[in-house]
Amino acid sequence: MAEEVLSNLMSEDRSFPPSEDFAAGANATAALYDDAVSDREGFWAEQAGRLSWAAPWEQVLDWSDAPFAKWFTGGRLNVAYNCVDRHVEDGHGDQVAIHWVGEPGDSRDITYAELLAEVSRAANALSSLGLVAGDRVAIQLPMVPEAIVAMLACARLGLTHSVVFGGFSPAALRSRVEDAAARVVITSDGQYRRGSAAPMKENVDEALADLPVVEKVVVVRRTGTDVPWTEGRDLWWHDLVDAQPTEHTAEAFDAEHPLFILYTSGTTGRPKGILHTSGGYLTQAAYTHRVVFDHRPGEDVYWCTADIGWITGHTYIVYGPLANRATQVVYEGTPNTPNEGRHWEIVERYGVSIYYTAPTLIRTFMKWGAHIPAAFDLSSLRLLGSVGEPINPEAWLWYRENIGRGTTPIVDTWWQTETGAIMISPLPGVTAAKPGSAQRALPGIGARVVDETGAEVAKGSGGYLVLDQPWPSMLRGIWGDPERFRDTYWSRFADLGYYFAGDGAKYDADGDIWLLGRVDDVMNVSGHRISTTEVESALVSHPTVAEAAVVGASDPTTGQAIVAFVIARSGTAGPDGDRAEAVAALRDHVAKEIGPIAKPRQILIVPELPKTRSGKIMRRLLRDVAENREVGDVTTLADSSVMELISSGLRPAA
Ligand code: PRX
Repeated sequence: MAEEVLSNLMSEDRSFPPSEDFAAGANATAALYDDAVSDREGFWAEQAGRLSWAAPWEQVLDWSDAPFAKWFTGGRLNVAYNCVDRHVEDGHGDQVAIHWVGEPGDSRDITYAELLAEVSRAANALSSLGLVAGDRVAIQLPMVPEAIVAMLACARLGLTHSVVFGGFSPAALRSRVEDAAARVVITSDGQYRRGSAAPMKENVDEALADLPVVEKVVVVRRTGTDVPWTEGRDLWWHDLVDAQPTEHTAEAFDAEHPLFILYTSGTTGRPKGILHTSGGYLTQAAYTHRVVFDHRPGEDVYWCTADIGWITGHTYIVYGPLANRATQVVYEGTPNTPNEGRHWEIVERYGVSIYYTAPTLIRTFMKWGAHIPAAFDLSSLRLLGSVGEPINPEAWLWYRENIGRGTTPIVDTWWQTETGAIMISPLPGVTAAKPGSAQRALPGIGARVVDETGAEVAKGSGGYLVLDQPWPSMLRGIWGDPERFRDTYWSRFADLGYYFAGDGAKYDADGDIWLLGRVDDVMNVSGHRISTTEVESALVSHPTVAEAAVVGASDPTTGQAIVAFVIARSGTAGPDGDRAEAVAALRDHVAKEIGPIAKPRQILIVPELPKTRSGKIMRRLLRDVAENREVGDVTTLADSSVMELISSGLRPAA
């Protein structure tokens, strides 16, 4: 972490206490912290009690097989019933669950009663394919209502879904489908992206070529484009689902029944299938959505701008909000289609009151200019949220001033795919917010900043962020790889039993937590996690590349950007060929291998890479180059002249 960023952050000392009005009506109170400390399990039992259980739990937490947690053991519930049926049974069937907005301008309002009918039909349809509880279903869909319906239909049947972001390449989809051994894949003919229809089904076909584990591919019609068809395997969603009855009785499953797998990047080239289960996950999803967003069912209009392909979409579009009977906006497209006011037009049109987005988008809005939101009536907004990466104080202040009229609370929420739900965040109505700080672990959550030995650091000092107590929505493992689960998260502070988050953090003088970015080889580009190794593997799979090293360099808009250093194979296009062309081909190659989000911002063709005597690439030095800094200490390099060689041979080619 650059010292400069750190000192900027630490000189930030503004603080925004909640207004009296907000505090008086807020869901969260300061007493929650005390309640959770005095009886932690009782606190979580109370939160779980807001859900509907078919059978009560015997034990709140079973940590006897740590780090494999069991929450609410013996309890039984149906996640989809909790998100849909019970609201209809309680007389809220006519309440809009989803204001869906398509990118080309089409829209659809779906009430809870309609959602129940659709989810029931889809559940009947998936059952008719012979799927049974415990089977895995992969979903690669754009942000269409069917994506949410498909997830809930899986949850209803106890099928474990694995949603794969629509922008991932066929190779990335294939490895995820294979790893989870999904029997069915749900996708669409195409997706709208920046005003035009892009193919999706073709990519899925490519991913599934000669993959016999997949029995059926269900295709949602979205763009109406012609698609290749595999007879006997492919089915149209509308043919399969529309004819099904709208009645379906939800069966209750064990609290620890696997709800979903979501793949995320780790420090190796192979993504990890993060496993989440039912009762604890839904408990924390609903609790955090209620207290962090101060959500009021039937009153608020909530909008989380994430894609369902990421954890934020799972927890704060699907499970948390629907469990809490939210009325929410779901938008299919990009924020500048057809123009840069799209989000604000939607806020105005639906009276959005809670808006949750990522710092990278806030910085993009800043770039586009304050006059754009100023042209819309945003007076319905009463709370703003941020997630995915550290938010710089300037962006925080801009957000509050230009989107929140200088009055709304902002919640900067820290969490991960692995944590399943928000862990560290201010509580609106309670916390005096500090721009750029996620501040404090939520009631019921234990987080601390420690040094190499696991000892808590003093106020004003930095170190590693750890979670020192199990939490209900914690990952239950890495799909098929218990060893990697232990190694990755639990081995670093094994004696203390701490979960190692992989993030650097710092306490300020008040003991509030400031997140400082990853301390491992994981990059955070526009809030998306990508490992350096993943991109390096993609680069070296290209015939012209002999070796590659990738670093995340700070970037004013995307937080970090991918910068690659590449040694070309002799005799191939590279140093001697047309550089610009070679670099363009490599960038496209990475996009094809992983997905456009992994495209390096810059590829530098270099004669050598800086390595230690044991052969480890010193990324720190490459980061210095990528960020145009003076190169740091080179004494541990096997050949200290390498940096000289790299710097002198550098001709940025992209
Ligand atoms: O580095 C932290 C950063 O995003 C990582 C988790 O990424 P992912 O699993 O994709 O989940 C993103 C959405 C929850 C973390 O290890 N991160 C997330 N939120 C914040 C953050 N960094 C700083 N401040 C945040 N609010």
